Amino acid sequence: MKIAVLGTGIVGQTYASKLITLGHDVMIGTRNVSEKLNSSAKDSYGNPPFGEWYTKNSSVKLGTFEEAATFGEIVLNVTQGGNSITVLKLANAKNLNGKILIDISNPLDFSKGMPPSLLPELSNTNSLGEEIQKLLPSVKVVKALNTMWCGLMVNPLMINSGDHNTFICGNDSDAKDQVKRLLKSFGWIDKNIIDLGDISAARGTEMYLPLWLRIYGATSNGAFNIKIVN
Ligand SMILES: NC(=O)c1ccc[n+]([C@@H]2O[C@H](COP(=O)([O-])OP(=O)(O)OC[C@H]3O[C@@H](n4cnc5c(N)ncnc54)[C@H](OP(=O)(O)O)[C@@H]3O)[C@@H](O)[C@H]2O)c1
Repeated sequence: MKIAVLGTGIVGQTYASKLITLGHDVMIGTRNVSEKLNSSAKDSYGNPPFGEWYTKNSSVKLGTFEEAATFGEIVLNVTQGGNSITVLKLANAKNLNGKILIDISNPLDFSKGMPPSLLPELSNTNSLGEEIQKLLPSVKVVKALNTMWCGLMVNPLMINSGDHNTFICGNDSDAKDQVKRLLKSFGWIDKNIIDLGDISAARGTEMYLPLWLRIYGATSNGAFNIKIVN
């Protein structure tokens, strides 16, 4: 399948690499292709410049956000949450309409230091997932996988033999079924993918982030997840 990954950070790189190993045709999107390839800047976590990753992963296609959105049959949003709306406007609704958009981003606000908080206008009574669905009413937005470190998203077997939970939500049942199939191809166990309902449930999965960040701060290990026990 043709899959677009909007976002060149560590999460975009993680997804693009994984999707290629699963046999998909992948295009990663950015604002400016030549600037991205030529930049020597490390990301905010100290990861090597994008160009270094791309040299080792050149079977991934690289294009603008708009070119990637046009290319993908399914589109992943893995851009900085506070700028995701800007990115999706650049991608252009006409290239996305009718498609599934899996939103993995979080509306984190780093402006007041670490740990980040949530952007007030995108939390509590709102969420980034809902804002994206409002911006793109003809797109099937499914919020998924945003509640854990990206290495675990695409390799759940890394901990507890894959027995832990992830969440999806969105307004279109068929789209959620298709996203579930993609998650299962990563190793997620069907019963561990919890459907929380419509896209407003993104409020809950995004507002889990402040707790995730505090657990990470307390344990210094990002490879953990939730298991629902009842
Ligand atoms: N790190 C994790 O394990 C993890 C886990 C769960 C969720 N997430 C979420 O995943 C998303 C991606 O995280 P990340 O660390 O890989 O990357 P990031 O640094 O949060 O985002 C990188 C992407 O955002 C775009 N971007 C940044 N500023 C922009 C602006 N002013 N206008 C337009 N685009 C802009 C960049 O575009 P260019 O390509 O043009 O530079 C790039 O593609 C975030 O929402 C994060 O909260 C991360």
